Amino acid sequence: MVYPTIISLHHNESQQVLTLAPPAEGLTLRGQIRVPGDKSISHRALMLGALAHGVTTIHGLLLGEDPRSTARCFAAMGAEVSELNSEQVTIKGIGASGLQEPVDILDAGNSGTTLRLMLGILAAQSGRFFAITGDSSLRSRPMSRAVTPLRQMGAGIWGRKDGSLAPLAVQGQTLHPLHYYSPIASAQVKSCILLAGLFTEGKTTVTEPALSRDHSERMLRAFGANIEVDLETRSASILGPAQLQGQAVVVPGDISSAAFWLVAGAIIPGADLTIENVGVNPTRTGVLEALAAMGADITRANEREVAGEPVADLRVRYSDRGDRPPLHACEIGGDLIPRLIDEIPILAVAAAFAQGTTIIRDAAELRVKESDRIAVMAAQLSQMGVAVSERADGLEITGGHPLKGATLDSYTDHRIAMSLAIAALAAQGVTTIQRAEAVAISYPSFVPTLTSILQ
Ligand code: S3P
Repeated sequence: MVYPTIISLHHNESQQVLTLAPPAEGLTLRGQIRVPGDKSISHRALMLGALAHGVTTIHGLLLGEDPRSTARCFAAMGAEVSELNSEQVTIKGIGASGLQEPVDILDAGNSGTTLRLMLGILAAQSGRFFAITGDSSLRSRPMSRAVTPLRQMGAGIWGRKDGSLAPLAVQGQTLHPLHYYSPIASAQVKSCILLAGLFTEGKTTVTEPALSRDHSERMLRAFGANIEVDLETRSASILGPAQLQGQAVVVPGDISSAAFWLVAGAIIPGADLTIENVGVNPTRTGVLEALAAMGADITRANEREVAGEPVADLRVRYSDRGDRPPLHACEIGGDLIPRLIDEIPILAVAAAFAQGTTIIRDAAELRVKESDRIAVMAAQLSQMGVAVSERADGLEITGGHPLKGATLDSYTDHRIAMSLAIAALAAQGVTTIQRAEAVAISYPSFVPTLTSILQ
């Protein structure tokens, strides 16, 4: 049975319900698009701009809810941030010691990056007091991973469960340097400590078990900090205290947002999409490797470096394999995980359209993201008829059989909402996604972009 293409967004009290069906007969996904600015780089540009001397300009900032939270927090501490737009944002920084004590509680919203990175900065503001909170998702996420090393540097941080849950209270201190061996590969933890080290006399080092995204190291260096990186030992060091100088930052498109279209192009018959200007920093391109291992036809063109970050155009074309599914199963685990951690929900969708059993392991971190992404993806995909089981550290998905439309829920998690939307486009029948407003965290123009490429 052929369904008409349905894409509609309904407001239901404060929630949005997204209704989708596969492209109508004769339609597919086609065209050249751009995705919004990289979320990780957007946060860092706002933070370093606020801490620097002089003016920072940001071109291509993500206008999602998460960077807005960061901008609001630093504006509340004295940074002059112009109106946020994707063309050019200007920040008049306050200098290394200029952060003002905010008169109210800082609200990081849904953003773990805002809270954890800011914690490193605030802990080092000697003599000033800060209170930080977030939404109900963020208040349930673990903060001890950042609080524990900061306390080893001398930080004064308090909160529920011995400071492991927000709201948190921070009494700024003069910190001392640390060599921290992190038990988890987390760019948020690494960046939190390096930012604390920015204000600390001496050399602060973080060694990680596997390499996480390195945007902080690149941007701190560009702003004039003394950063050393040893890839062999997966260590990054900062020599503090450092005075940052305002810079012109160009934010590339977010590969985590591009990933939705890459998978859509790989599973929707006839699709041919080019996503221009995507950040392809090697610490973020695990999704390209996983999709290549599954047989997806993705090519890179126009590779270049923009403001210290590698960028390329990515083209995905549907591979017609006759009666066989377009993809085949693969195993995803080990050091690859930190390089595709945010793309696992959409890779789980790819796995549902791949012949065989895909195993995702070593990804227990997914349980403490904006939602428990292992449990939520397993429950939602099984609603669509996929054979999926949870592992403690991942998922096992047997794909290649038709998916059926269903009534689904994002659990207020942006990446779950968008992953399920792509699954719905390649399923049979109509799907509704509850609490779809979550997409605004990282990709406010997701639905309009989808509408524009349905041709
Ligand atoms: C981020 C790091 C990752 C990622 C998050 C953004 C960052 O988290 O999941 O979306 O900007 O540093 P972890 O560092 O906790 O793995």
